[in-house]
Amino acid sequence: MDPQRICFVSSEIVPFAKTGGLADVSGALGKYLDKNGVDVRLFMPFYDTIDPAGQDVHVVDFIQNVPIEFGGFTLHFTALTTTLPDSGASVYFIHCDGLYNRGTIYTNDGDEYLRYALLNYATLECCQRMGWQPDIFHCNDWQTGLLPFLLKTRYNWDGLFNNSKTILTIHNIGYQGVFGSEVVEKLRLDEYRHLLPQEDIQSGMINYMKIGLLNCDVITTVSETYAEEIKTEEFGAGMEGILRMRSDRLVGIVNGVDYSEWSPESDPFIPYSFSADDLSGKEKNKEELLKRMGLSYHPDIPVYGIVSRLTGQKGFELLHETLFDILANYEVRFVILGSGEEKYASFFHKAQHHFPSKLCFYDGYSVELSHLIEAGSDCFVMPSRYEPCGLNQIYSLKYGTVPIVRKTGGLADTVQFYEWETQNGTGFVFDDFSAQGLRWAFNYSYETYQNKDAWRKLMLNGMAQNFSWDVQIEKYLMLYRGLSGK
Ligand code: ADP
Ligand code: GLC
Repeated sequence: MDPQRICFVSSEIVPFAKTGGLADVSGALGKYLDKNGVDVRLFMPFYDTIDPAGQDVHVVDFIQNVPIEFGGFTLHFTALTTTLPDSGASVYFIHCDGLYNRGTIYTNDGDEYLRYALLNYATLECCQRMGWQPDIFHCNDWQTGLLPFLLKTRYNWDGLFNNSKTILTIHNIGYQGVFGSEVVEKLRLDEYRHLLPQEDIQSGMINYMKIGLLNCDVITTVSETYAEEIKTEEFGAGMEGILRMRSDRLVGIVNGVDYSEWSPESDPFIPYSFSADDLSGKEKNKEELLKRMGLSYHPDIPVYGIVSRLTGQKGFELLHETLFDILANYEVRFVILGSGEEKYASFFHKAQHHFPSKLCFYDGYSVELSHLIEAGSDCFVMPSRYEPCGLNQIYSLKYGTVPIVRKTGGLADTVQFYEWETQNGTGFVFDDFSAQGLRWAFNYSYETYQNKDAWRKLMLNGMAQNFSWDVQIEKYLMLYRGLSGK
């Protein structure tokens, strides 16, 4: 039977480039779609920071120096290709001199609009040159929002794409790719200006996410609760009207986890493996983690871990109001790994300065440490203001690290409130985005930790959860089938 052909476009894909969960999800989807017999081809920029992860990357000889005409200038791109590790899926990198060699994935440079526009144009140009007819273009976040629009406009002459459908997955509606409307001319889209959202054009703007949401066939997002939340003013970031209007086209699918990367039984980054049947390695990892972070270990003192991008989304304001008090009054350890906005980093530095024996902050990005924190902590703290899905709380469950989360988005869908009376549930879930809420959840965790039997049961409840892509991939396959009729 003719396999589904899925063209998957993303700005970051594990193991090549990652700033957050989008990369994990893109890499895992590629791998699991391939495993399910889908002809999936992934497209992303060839950043100079790309880690080829031991894969052989080579130029596609018939896609070299391809010119694309923009408004008054031409860009040339070359496609490079490799396969996704542990998979047969092909990855295509878009190489363009001058655009992706910035030493970082995203930038605040004046041509950010062009860096991601090119990804959309070049993906279509590659399909044309390969004579490859995707059943579905699966786009991800604002960086790929233009693609459904390009198919309806600049590339609508090409019969190759006549039957292609489009999906836009929202991983985070907080980032929309908003630029000045002069970009329309620069992208050589002036003749289609009337098809763009007029309210934006009139106020001198263009919004890639909005264009994608209005022009794709199906919108998905990464949890069921977030799919509901983004239809409201509080969470919709201005897109709620469109999402309500298109709600029959909006689906929430909770992210899966690639347990071949994130399992305490087989994780190569942690010194001691462990499992639900034998938890002894977990305690040793805790000891090791604290040693690495320069903190003293005691079996009765709980360790609270954080691994995060440091941005407003993650709710660290709540820690501003609670952390110092907790550190002053409780025997605890905090191990924090994060990179991002300076104001959050300086807060954690300050906390470390005041409580050097209780808190250690690693300001940066470290895959190895992120795994060790998952393995060696007792609790994982994620008080997000909003969270489309969140992966770290799901990893935590698998590592017997009990999540403390705010009840929002994917956190609400993946962590069940722990009930002391029944000992059912998997974590400490608080409702309101308030310091009192977080404080209550912390107290609850601290008290529960004092009862070793209850704690063990709670850990095992979490470890028994299954968010494998083996399960979640079915939902994408069904969606693809429904859309392409194949
Ligand atoms: P988001 O995509 O909003 O950042 P997720 O929970 O979906 O949140 O995914 C975050 C991913 O990025 C996880 O795989 C996490 O381990 C990783 N991560 C975040 N910050 C760091 C960091 N400083 N060092 C290493 N990994 C990090
Ligand atoms: C985004 C979201 C996060 C989600 C990830 C992958 O970065 O912030 O909640 O898990 O995308 O979908």
